[in-house]
Amino acid sequence: MSSLLIRDLAQVATPAGAAAPLRGSALRDVTVIEDGYVLCDEGRIAAVGRMSDLGPFGADVVEIDGRGLSAIPGLVDCHTHACFAGDRVEEFSLRAAGATYEELHARGGGIISTVRATRAAGPEGLKAALGKHVRWLLQAGTTTFEAKSGYGLDHDTELAQLGAVVDAGGVATWLGAHAIPPEFAERGGDAYIDFLLGEVLPEAAALAEAADVFLERGAFDAEQARRFLVACRNAGLALRLHGDQFTEAGAIPLAIELGARSVDHLEATGRGGIAALASSEVTGVLLPASALFLGRPMPPARALIDAGAAVALATDFNPGSAFCESLPLVCSIAATQLGMSPEEALSACTANAAHVLARADRKGRLASGFDADVVLLAADDWRHLAYHLGGPVVHTVVAAGEIAWSRSA
Ligand code: NIG
Ligand code: FE
Repeated sequence: MSSLLIRDLAQVATPAGAAAPLRGSALRDVTVIEDGYVLCDEGRIAAVGRMSDLGPFGADVVEIDGRGLSAIPGLVDCHTHACFAGDRVEEFSLRAAGATYEELHARGGGIISTVRATRAAGPEGLKAALGKHVRWLLQAGTTTFEAKSGYGLDHDTELAQLGAVVDAGGVATWLGAHAIPPEFAERGGDAYIDFLLGEVLPEAAALAEAADVFLERGAFDAEQARRFLVACRNAGLALRLHGDQFTEAGAIPLAIELGARSVDHLEATGRGGIAALASSEVTGVLLPASALFLGRPMPPARALIDAGAAVALATDFNPGSAFCESLPLVCSIAATQLGMSPEEALSACTANAAHVLARADRKGRLASGFDADVVLLAADDWRHLAYHLGGPVVHTVVAAGEIAWSRSA
C-alpha cells in the first residue's frame, strides 16, 4: 500500500477535537484549514495541515492535485436498509396519488412487498443488489455504512442479509423485528419474537454488531421490543431502535432504560422525549430524507441540539420510505428544513455517526491516526456539501488511502 498526498486543497474541514459524541455548541465546531494537504500512509492519515507546513515525504507517494477542491472526512451512514432486492416504484406512484405509507403497510404492501422480493432474490441476487447500492453510497461520499436486515423475516434470508452486509464491508445490524411476516399473521408478534430469539438470534449475533426493532403502531409494541432487545443484549449485541416515527410509543424511555446506542427517526417526538434524550447517553439519529419522502413532519433537530442531545444524521436508504443514498442531500435537507448549520450537519454525519457505530476513534475525522477515508468536494468552500442541493458535489472518494471513486476518472 503506497502513500497518498492530497495537496493544494482550497480547504480541509473536519470536526474539531477528538471527543464523541459532539453536543451543543461543540457540534458546530469545525476546523477549517485553508490551502491545506492530507497525507495518507498505510491506509491511515499520517498528517493534515497547511501546504506551507508540509514536511518532507517519501519518494513513492501518489499525489492528487486538490486545487479548487475541499476535503472532508469520508461520510459515515449509520442507518441504512441497503440490503434489499427490487424496488417500490409502484407504491411510490400510489403514494403520490394520495395513499399513505401506513395504509399500504396495513394492506400487506410496504415492507412486506420488499420481503417478498428479497426472499425471491436468493443469496446471489441479494449480494448483487447490495453491491449496486454500496456503489451508490460510495459515489455519494459514504465510506462507512451500516445496513440492517429486516427484509427476510425468516431464518435463511435474515442471515443471508447479514452475511452479505459483512462481506460488502458494512456494519451489520439485525433488524429481525422489523415487521410481522405473513406466516406469523395469525399467531402474532409474540410468537414471531419467540421464533426470532429461539431460531435466529444465535447465528445473527455472530454476524451483526447491533440489534434493532421497529417500535410502532402496526409493528411491535414496547413490551415486545423490550423482550427482543434484552435477549439480544444478553447475546452481546448493541441496541438500536426505530422509534417515534409516526407515534410516541415508548421508544425513548426504553432506549434509555436498556442503554441503547441510538433511537432513530424521532419525527413524532415531543417535549418530554426531547428532554429525556438530551439528558441521556443515547444518540438521536435523524433521518430527514425519510420525513421528506413520506411527506411527514421533520424531526425536532433544533430543539434536540439546543437541549444538549447527541444527534447524528443518516439517510435511512431503503426502497419504501427513503429511496435516497446521498448524505450530501441529507445535509442539504438538514440545513434547509431542520435549522442545522452546515457545520452541525457535517459533524452529525461524520464524528457523531461514527460514535453510533462505535468507531469514533478511527472514523469521522481528518486527523493523524484516523482511517484514510477522505471525500474531495468539487468546490473551494466545503459548505457546498449542504449548499449544493442534489448537485454533483462529490468529486473524489478516498477509502483506506486509495482512490475508490472519482468523477474525473
Ligand atoms: O426506517 N420504518 C421502518 N422501516 C424503514 C422503512 C422500511 C421500508 O419501508 O421498506 C424506515 O423508514
Ligand atoms: Fe430505518
